[in-house]
Amino acid sequence: GDEDDLESRPPVVTVMGHVDHGKTKLLDALRHANVVAGEAGGITQAIGAYQVATEIGDVERRITFIDTPGHEAFTAMRARGAKSTDIAILVVAADDGVMPQTIEALNHAKAADVPIVVAVNKVDKETADPVKVRGEMTEYGLIPEEYGGDTMFVDVSAVTHQGLDNLLEAIVLTADAALDLRANPDMPAQGVAIEAHLDKGRGPVATVLVHRGTLRTGDSIVAGSAHGRVRAMITDTGETVDEAPPSMPVQVLGLTSVPGAGDNFLVVEDDRMARQIADKREARQRAAFLAKTTR
Ligand code: GTP
Ligand code: NA
Ligand code: MG
Repeated sequence: GDEDDLESRPPVVTVMGHVDHGKTKLLDALRHANVVAGEAGGITQAIGAYQVATEIGDVERRITFIDTPGHEAFTAMRARGAKSTDIAILVVAADDGVMPQTIEALNHAKAADVPIVVAVNKVDKETADPVKVRGEMTEYGLIPEEYGGDTMFVDVSAVTHQGLDNLLEAIVLTADAALDLRANPDMPAQGVAIEAHLDKGRGPVATVLVHRGTLRTGDSIVAGSAHGRVRAMITDTGETVDEAPPSMPVQVLGLTSVPGAGDNFLVVEDDRMARQIADKREARQRAAFLAKTTR
């Protein structure tokens, strides 16, 4: 697109880290919500996406957060989360320290070449040792700024809410210093489906993140080999909206099948075109699958 058409967009921040280190609780605290309470067994099973507004120096700044599961079974989701992100927040519980999925998440963030902010969580706990966490992370190449390195470490507690403002500020500083976050909102939307499932009542539901353009109710879209017409869009706060600009995550209803998580989506001219592209993609996938299984 033309340089003049670019407008600033919120940073997309993926929250990663070892199981139970407090990723979802931290996001709950930032959103004044309570997702943790509704999770089966307290384990995050899917990617969730939320937008938070914060005031930094009297200016309202929006930040899009993507939550990921820490359980080792969800490697692919962490990889996907890292890929569609601008900044990675690595959550490390101060009582537990660096654990296997901490390192795995760190490697995904490094592979995606995104700046990393370390949130040292659970500092309210008596057994918390945030200095030890810094030492451990240094061994993996993340040197805290206060030790002369270039990684921001922020001590936080998702329970007492200590340090949350510092964390938001670190994210905004990182975004402003390291990234050019601009996108053209005046074009047919493109982006990625970060999660999708079949809902009993509502049919296929896809959480999509708009990268460029603006997604609108009534748009014909292709997502992977799924297609359809956007019947409704719902934000993370349950609000129905008619437009989703860049960096805004929304649930999209109206697809005729469930796209794959991580599939790109795009808006096309009309339903017919959407169906054609989707059919072609499906045929290609089937051919690739057959080639593999009959080899
Ligand atoms: P997965 O999604 O399963 O990987 O876990 P998670 O990283 O999202 O952790 P979650 O938010 O589910 O929190 C795990 C447990 O730690 C819960 O019992 C939280 O209440 C608790 N917890 C999270 N943050 C804090 C904190 O800052 N202090 C204390 N004391 N407990 C916390
Ligand atoms: Na958990
Ligand atoms: Mg979680």
